[in-house]
Amino acid sequence: MKPTLTFLATLAATATAQFDYTKRSAPFNLIVLSSTNDTLNGTLLSACHEGAAIEGFCRGPKLSDTPTYGATFYFNTSYETNETVVYDNYGSLDYDLLISGNQTVPSAMQLVYDPTSNVAVPILYPSGGETYSSVYFDKSEELYIQSWKDDTVDPAVSKEEKVKQWYVCTTYYSYTYVTLAWVVGKNATPQNPTCQKVTVKRVWV
Ligand SMILES: *[C@@H]1O[C@H](CO)[C@@H](O)[C@H](O)[C@H]1NC(C)=O
Ligand SMILES: *[C@@H]1O[C@H](CO)[C@@H](O)[C@H](O)[C@H]1NC(C)=O
Ligand SMILES: *[C@@H]1O[C@H](CO)[C@@H](O)[C@H](O)[C@H]1NC(C)=O
Ligand SMILES: *[C@@H]1O[C@H](CO)[C@@H](O)[C@H](O)[C@H]1NC(C)=O
Ligand SMILES: *[C@@H]1O[C@H](CO)[C@@H](O)[C@H](O)[C@H]1NC(C)=O
Repeated sequence: MKPTLTFLATLAATATAQFDYTKRSAPFNLIVLSSTNDTLNGTLLSACHEGAAIEGFCRGPKLSDTPTYGATFYFNTSYETNETVVYDNYGSLDYDLLISGNQTVPSAMQLVYDPTSNVAVPILYPSGGETYSSVYFDKSEELYIQSWKDDTVDPAVSKEEKVKQWYVCTTYYSYTYVTLAWVVGKNATPQNPTCQKVTVKRVWV
């Protein structure tokens, strides 16, 4: 689905979306694929504590048949369709934080930028915040962010590109963890030397 121009303008201005994405996908796990590191390849991302009701995407164990706590995510969209899986459509990456044993707090992923680093950290905030970063999945089930404009040329041109600047790095949002990270800029090299290039893939549970 192609968002409207108004939507694009908003997206370009804020890089985040403030819509009600309440149509929820089936649950899935997220694994990272690495072509150079066997230890890392095929491991799960799992939610880890980054503050009160706030989580990051920590490096987890290898995907197995045993469910891993904190590794179930959802994709929320606002797209009106009866299809069960929608590809190449914007949405939010969601997680149900469990508190007090049985209460769930729906949370959504937002990229957190540090002006002095090109390594942004995806963080899950309770949806009360109403701000989340729009992400997409392609038909290979790979997570990406859509670029609409190529500003590497002068003058910039409209150009749709699926950008997959995902890395696993030691990050410092509030604790020092090995987490998923996003390196800002098309083909940019992370300034953080711990970063390893990965692909993020959705595996339905
Ligand atoms: C995602 O959708 C579910 C089901 O409608 C809803 O409970 C949850 O609040 C939504 N998450 C966000 C961040 O809007
Ligand atoms: C990485 O893991 C995936 C799935 O677990 C597997 O299909 C692929 O062959 C592995 N890649 C390498 C380079 O080992
Ligand atoms: C593979 O990744 C793990 C986890 O991030 C890391 O500890 C290890 O040093 C990496 N191995 C190589 C050869 O880079
Ligand atoms: C979804 O299915 C319902 C019931 O069959 C139908 O009324 C509705 O128009 C469908 N919506 C779309 C967007 O296809
Ligand atoms: C949560 O569990 C507690 C203790 O078992 C129970 O008293 C309470 O009613 C439960 N709350 C919900 C929303 O299920």
